[in-house]
Amino acid sequence: MKMMVSMGRGGSGKTSFVALLTKHFIETRNYPMLLVDADPDQNLGEMVGIDLEEKGHKTISELMIETFLENGGTTVGIPPSERMEGMIWKKGLYEGEYFDLMAVGPKWIEGCYCLPDAALKGALSRLTKSYKYIIVDSPAGLEHINRKITSEVDDIFDVIDPSKKSFDHVKRAYRIAKEVKINFKNFYVVGGNRFPEISGEEVERRTNQKYLGKIAYDKNVEEFNLSGKSLLKLPPSSPAYLSIKEIMKKAGYP
Ligand SMILES: Nc1ncnc2c1ncn2[C@@H]1O[C@H](COP(=O)(O)OP(=O)(O)OP(=O)(O)O)[C@@H](O)[C@H]1O
Ligand SMILES: [Mg+2]
Repeated sequence: MKMMVSMGRGGSGKTSFVALLTKHFIETRNYPMLLVDADPDQNLGEMVGIDLEEKGHKTISELMIETFLENGGTTVGIPPSERMEGMIWKKGLYEGEYFDLMAVGPKWIEGCYCLPDAALKGALSRLTKSYKYIIVDSPAGLEHINRKITSEVDDIFDVIDPSKKSFDHVKRAYRIAKEVKINFKNFYVVGGNRFPEISGEEVERRTNQKYLGKIAYDKNVEEFNLSGKSLLKLPPSSPAYLSIKEIMKKAGYP
């Protein structure tokens, strides 16, 4: 089982990358996968064609409210996050043919994300099924790295946009991941669709990390996302999808 995490600044293309990755793994028969939408402003579900709410599933934040506010949360003695874990597997998990999906969701009440994060962390450390890949789509920025939803990661993919800020982001993200002791094997940089065709050497010089190449600009991706259509339905000749194949090959994936 391999754990992968997307990172990057706002709008760099993280979620599209995760959706395209999912399509790639389905087509190369590398499943079952678990997709985790760790972005409160969730949209991974939409990009892979799953409406959790419509399918009767709750986000982790919703389950938290249900457990502790609506039902009183009276199970004395059991840490709150453990009370939630079972709920996540029972009520939060969408189970599909190729992949399962769960989402952290927006927290409509005041306070930090400590509890939903702890519950998610607990659930991920005690998986109820065996997955080939677990892919976590992160919110933009750096804050979520400190929250450390996962401590064991195989590959981090930092999707960058064309700005100096993005290069700085990579350095900071790497440093925080190290500082908070996320145990990762590889930290990769991926150029988002707006990233220029500059040499891999230059990207690596400016970020100190391995560069896997860029995701091609793809009119289809833009249109599918605009209309809320699943990226899994992109034609196999789609430029963005083809670049994902190259990128993953460079990272040693099938
Ligand atoms: N390969 C691509 N070609 C063209 N447009 C793309 C491509 N990838 C992403 N986009 C567009 O860029 C925008 C941002 O994409 P996406 O939501 O994947 O980024 P993100 O990094 O997850 O954003 P956020 O920080 O809000 O989570 C979307 O409008 C999407 O349609
Ligand atoms: Mg996103």
